[in-house]
Amino acid sequence: MIVEKAPAKLNLGLQILGKRPDGYHDLISIFQTIDLCDHLIFDVAKKGQTIFHCDDPKLPSGPDNLVCQAVEVFRQATDIDEGIQIRLEKHIPYGAGLGGGSSDAATVLLALNRIWNAGLSLDQLRDLGLNLGSDVPFFIQKGTALVQGRGERLRYIPWHGHVVYVLVAPEFEVATGWAYGNYKKALTEKGGYATFLNCVNPDEIYISELLQHLENDFLPLILQTHSEVSQILEAFKKNDALSASLSGSGSTLYGVFEDQKAAENAVSAFESKGYRVFLCHPMLS
Ligand code: C5P
Repeated sequence: MIVEKAPAKLNLGLQILGKRPDGYHDLISIFQTIDLCDHLIFDVAKKGQTIFHCDDPKLPSGPDNLVCQAVEVFRQATDIDEGIQIRLEKHIPYGAGLGGGSSDAATVLLALNRIWNAGLSLDQLRDLGLNLGSDVPFFIQKGTALVQGRGERLRYIPWHGHVVYVLVAPEFEVATGWAYGNYKKALTEKGGYATFLNCVNPDEIYISELLQHLENDFLPLILQTHSEVSQILEAFKKNDALSASLSGSGSTLYGVFEDQKAAENAVSAFESKGYRVFLCHPMLS
């Protein structure tokens, strides 16, 4: 039996650059893995068999789950016909912009590569991952990355500072496809985030400067469709967050804090209002 952790991610800013001929959108974003993790438990099964169980009944437990799709894609790429049993314990909220499903899929690719001794390189695993979803290639390696293209152009960058994140996951979910189809171009026209990233050396990003530029092109849409979002952002300010933003296409909002104590105070404030809250840190390796 092997237990693997699949971390969530935050988008430290996200700008949509335009629609591509293949229907996807080009983006620029900094992705970072954080220490909020799903758990995947791998065990042996009879030849050719895939046995999958997820502890959350709201998620698909068959071929629609990205975990099963990852097993299928891996089998096809390697011609390996071993059996596998996978149990997924969900901790990352879904439809929340935290990449939970994509991270689960990447973790399956990495684990099968090891368990079945398949010898695929990390780049080959990333290529396989892209067939499963735009965010999957990023999760093949933990850390902080400048992400471009539809999610496949990755440049891992150093992260020196100490920050604490407070995540607030509202009850509503956001479908990524819907968000890309309906986002407002307001911030794209302004373009402060992309300009900032294009002007700095990604290997020497000052966290304090980045925190001044945490724009997310999906935020105007999510603000317009869900009134509680502006209250949550306001509450982050009141609770002394250095900065606050939306992760991915939502629905998770997060505040960045200088130290644990300030973050813990914010957690208490949000919990007293009945929100689902997570206190997290960057997960860099
Ligand atoms: O790649 P993934 O399956 O996660 O994407 C879900 C949907 O989000 C896509 O079908 C597409 O409509 C949209 N999308 C996009 N551009 C991206 C990523 C996702 O338009 N870079």
